[in-house]
Amino acid sequence: MERKYIRKIGKELPALGMGTWGIGGGFWTPDRSRDGEWVLVLRRGIELGASLIDTAEMYGGGHSEELVGEAIRGFPREEVFVITKVWPTHARRDDVLRSAEASARRLGTYIDLYLIHWPPTDVPLCETMRALEEVVARGLARFIGVSNFGLELIEEARSCLSREDVVAVENKFSLLDRRDEKTVVPYTEREGMAYIAYSPLEEGSLARDPFLAAVGAKYGKTAAQVALNWLIRFPSVIPIPKAGNLRHLEENLGAVGWRLSDEDWRMISEKYRWLPA
Ligand SMILES: NC(=O)c1ccc[n+]([C@@H]2O[C@H](COP(=O)([O-])OP(=O)(O)OC[C@H]3O[C@@H](n4cnc5c(N)ncnc54)[C@H](OP(=O)(O)O)[C@@H]3O)[C@@H](O)[C@H]2O)c1
Repeated sequence: MERKYIRKIGKELPALGMGTWGIGGGFWTPDRSRDGEWVLVLRRGIELGASLIDTAEMYGGGHSEELVGEAIRGFPREEVFVITKVWPTHARRDDVLRSAEASARRLGTYIDLYLIHWPPTDVPLCETMRALEEVVARGLARFIGVSNFGLELIEEARSCLSREDVVAVENKFSLLDRRDEKTVVPYTEREGMAYIAYSPLEEGSLARDPFLAAVGAKYGKTAAQVALNWLIRFPSVIPIPKAGNLRHLEENLGAVGWRLSDEDWRMISEKYRWLPA
């Protein structure tokens, strides 16, 4: 697996990770109907090097974290990188600490990267960010970051911190949603942070894109692989496509270890330039 060095973390992370939205359930609602298959897919992904896994306390009301915990058991702990997130209704200090403890318990281990899932609306941002620092001080997480934050909010979040720093931003970034391309993406690169790109396949629709499929044919690659490879070219960007089955997982992993030519990368960039963000 191709890897990317992230300065603020001080180590290399896989160039492609795995999302888990829908694995183990939906919005605060667990679904146990495919537990065995889901764990198998996650384990296979780790074996193939996509050992960065993104989950959240909200996904399946914690069941997604339980499945991630089951999937990573048996692998050397330092070889996997687990991201989880606290929902903004738990943004008060005591709630953040409680949520982090519960997440670590469900995962069966410490959290590598703990994020605030969305900017809190009724709690001062500094209260939440300082609580994230406490999560690290208590040994529940190694690093902290933010999700769904624009540039100004990222800076505001960082200004609250005295012991830790934001090491990663997790935002939506795909060929069809490029609002961060000239702002948050280069900022993370400059600052040595990771940019975790969510919904990189636009929930699957880019995998069916005929133009990307035609470009991919030249390389023996599929539309999904081209869409992910376009993102991987940004040095700080780590896309986290969600695959619910082995076929999708293995296809997505074929997005790494090669590069679109400069010409094709630019041509794709131009083609999607005017589509709505
Ligand atoms: N921080 C946030 O606020 C936030 C928000 C949204 C998502 N996320 C994270 O980002 C991850 C990825 O985003 P996402 O799940 O919204 O969207 P996505 O990864 O862009 O797309 C996932 C969808 O695409 C399908 N798919 C995956 N690989 C495919 C392939 N090779 N060919 C055809 N279809 C394919 C999946 O189907 P199958 O399930 O059938 O494989 C699923 O329906 C999430 O799982 C979650 O971990 C974070």
